[in-house]
Amino acid sequence: MSILKIAKMGHPILHQISSPITDFANPKLSVLIEDMIETLEDAGGIGLAAPQVYVPQRIVIFFVPEDRSDEDKESFGVDLTIMLNPKIESLSRRTNIDWEACLSVPSFMGAVERYSHIKYSWMDLGGNKHEREAKGFHARAVQHECDHLDGKLYPMRMSNFEAFGFVDEVNKNRPLMLKGKGLSPDVDNLEEVK
Ligand code: NI
Repeated sequence: MSILKIAKMGHPILHQISSPITDFANPKLSVLIEDMIETLEDAGGIGLAAPQVYVPQRIVIFFVPEDRSDEDKESFGVDLTIMLNPKIESLSRRTNIDWEACLSVPSFMGAVERYSHIKYSWMDLGGNKHEREAKGFHARAVQHECDHLDGKLYPMRMSNFEAFGFVDEVNKNRPLMLKGKGLSPDVDNLEEVK
């Protein structure tokens, strides 16, 4: 296993449309996925898409930590999931705005509008199809990761660059933190931004 280099915003590989996986039994595929898992663990992220490690193929790995899932009370922790050829369908027109970060955009975070309730499906290494519903942070994480397969980074989804900044600064700036969650800075509830 090896830790792979992560492509950063500005590299053209991050803006390609990735190719679907057709040969699920290719041994190189499982090696790549093992390396992606090791790279994700090393980087301390929650999701990684193959183009982020310079492989323009439709592969995403992600998990939802229990502590993140508690934030929105709409999603639960999700074990590490390996998705080949994932597809997303929104189940409602409802959207929400919240902060995102990305291993390919290090040190920054920005507020992005995403669908609140989705259904997504994918193939596993055995060629079997799986399907899940997701809400809240879980839905956000899947949308963020799958965007990588279509050459999109979260800043390309942003509509308000006031809600963008260095992670350490934003974390100290409570009015901005609230704004990025679509909440009024008047809201005086520290629980909201923990
Ligand atoms: Ni990302």
